[in-house]
Amino acid sequence: MQNGIEPVAPAEITANVLESFAGADSARLRELMQSLVVHLHAFAAETGLTQEEWQAGIAALTATGQITDERRQEFILWSDALGLSMFVDALAHRPPAGATESTVLGPFYVPGSPLRDYGARIAEADSGTPAWVYGRVVDAVNGHPLAGAEVDVWQNGDNRLYAVQDPQAPEHHLRGRFRTRDDGAFAFVAVRPTPYPIPDDGPVGQMLKATGRHPWRPAHIHMIVRAAGYVTLVTHIFDRDSDYLESDAVFAVKPSLLRAFEPRAADDPARPAGIEGDWCSLECDIALAPGLERTVTDPGRTA
Ligand SMILES: [Fe+2]
Repeated sequence: MQNGIEPVAPAEITANVLESFAGADSARLRELMQSLVVHLHAFAAETGLTQEEWQAGIAALTATGQITDERRQEFILWSDALGLSMFVDALAHRPPAGATESTVLGPFYVPGSPLRDYGARIAEADSGTPAWVYGRVVDAVNGHPLAGAEVDVWQNGDNRLYAVQDPQAPEHHLRGRFRTRDDGAFAFVAVRPTPYPIPDDGPVGQMLKATGRHPWRPAHIHMIVRAAGYVTLVTHIFDRDSDYLESDAVFAVKPSLLRAFEPRAADDPARPAGIEGDWCSLECDIALAPGLERTVTDPGRTA
């Protein structure tokens, strides 16, 4: 005590900061900022956060900003690796029974993929075993097929990389958009995806190493499915035979999203045109919940 004045207690600091938001025009913004401060301060109090630890946190955030550019989104990676992306997704979506479940967008989505014809290839260079992916988009409530729905897909190849990570790859390699036919059917030639590590040469990778976690994700194909009058679906289709299904680095696996890639021989009479050699097929129906569409953007590329 100096001059009879009590030192400022931590709780007073919290109260002052909360009060500073009282004049915010937006009640929602006020709620978000005040709650953020309450939980941040409680985190520091509960853990007895030291000044060195606070400094290390600031350094990690600084490195996150420095490594993020139009091809690398380290902030989404933090959100994914801490399970926040899946948590927010779960809060947002309580799909009706029968609707295909959602999962994370991930850091590799690039809007504006080319519109391709029914049955077209998405690989613009050799990238692994061809996979005939086919199914129908239907209404989850009544089962009616949805004509003109858009199936926006992207995936990695057998070098583990998405095109956006690979300077050698053509711009639209392993991605494309497809429109469903009158009977709701869509089909495309993908490749069998492979497990891959999330980018682990930055601050998220350092956190994983320091905490004894691995960076691997099980093999999957990403999809965004859109139709007028239906909730936009952001999801993955996982290879049910992949490694890492039990320990996905970003916690995105849901049992209902596992599908079988069926191996097919080169002389299989059902072999679609344009496929040579051994191939596989993946049946993948999608059921959308009636509701509002939303725009999905990549925050790293659409500021
Ligand atoms: Fe992915």
